Amino acid sequence: MSTRRLQTIVPSVPVSDGAGVKLRRSLGHSQRLDPFLMLDEFASDNPDDYIAGFPPHPHRGFETVTYMLAGAFEHRDHLGHTGHLRGGGAQWMSAGRGIVHSEMPLQDSGRLHGFQFWINLPAAEKMKPAAYRDIQPEAIPEVAIPGGSVKVIAGTLDGAGAAPVPGPIQGLSTAPLFLDVRLAAGQGFAQTVDDGHTAFLYPYAGSLLVGDDARPLAARQAGVLSAGERIAVAAGPEGAGFLLLAARPLGEPVVQYGPFVMNTREEIEQALADYRNGTLA
Ligand code: FE2
Repeated sequence: MSTRRLQTIVPSVPVSDGAGVKLRRSLGHSQRLDPFLMLDEFASDNPDDYIAGFPPHPHRGFETVTYMLAGAFEHRDHLGHTGHLRGGGAQWMSAGRGIVHSEMPLQDSGRLHGFQFWINLPAAEKMKPAAYRDIQPEAIPEVAIPGGSVKVIAGTLDGAGAAPVPGPIQGLSTAPLFLDVRLAAGQGFAQTVDDGHTAFLYPYAGSLLVGDDARPLAARQAGVLSAGERIAVAAGPEGAGFLLLAARPLGEPVVQYGPFVMNTREEIEQALADYRNGTLA
C-alpha cells in the first residue's frame, strides 16, 4: 500500500473578510485544490477580531463547511432558517443555486476558534436547491486511538484494524473525508484513502511529520499530499491537532467571482444578474 508524501506546503496568510473578521487563509488565497476552493481558520481571544461577523451575503455553486473548536456562531438565511453552531459542532451547507445568509458570532468576549472550507459542487448539482445540516457536537463520533483521539465529521475513519467509524456526513458526490485528529507528542496516525482523491492536512496546533520520509509540516499551513492509498503522520514534540481532508476531484472548469463558483463566465453573469434581481435562490 503506497503511503502519501507531503508534496506542497500552502502557507496561510492573514486576511479580513465579512465585516472585518480576521482570518488566516491558506487554500483559496493563491491556489485551489480541486474540489477544495478555500480554507480559512479564525482563532482569537480578542472580540475586535470577530465581533463584526459576516452580515448577509450570497453563495451559489458550492458547499461551505464550518467547524468550530471553541465559541459559537448563529446562522440565519433568507428562507427563515436559523442555526446555532457551537464548539465541537459543524454546519455543512450546500448553497446549490443560491442562499443569502449571515454568520454572526454569538458572543462578545472570549475565544472563538474554528474553520470554514469551501468544497465545489459538480456542474450537475450547482443549481440544485440549497440545503444544510447543522451537526451538533454530540452527533460527531470521537474515537480514542493510541495516544490521541479522532473526531469523524464526514466519511469514515478506517479504524486501523478496529471497526470503521462513519461520520454524520455521507453520500455526497465528492465523497469527502473530514477528520479532526489530536495526537500526543510522537504518536502516529494512519488512514486509508482512495488513491485518486485529493488530500491535505492542516495542523492548527503543534506540528506533524508526514509520510514515510517524515517531512515536517508546521501549524497553520496546508500540506498537500501526493497520490497514494494511505496517509501516515506522526505528531511533533509538542503533539498535534490537525484537520485531515480528502475528496474526489471534479476535473471541471472553475470560474469564480467572490461567493459565486460556476463553470463558465456566462453562469457567473447569470448569478450576478439573479442576485441583483432577487432571484438567486
Ligand atoms: Fe457564507
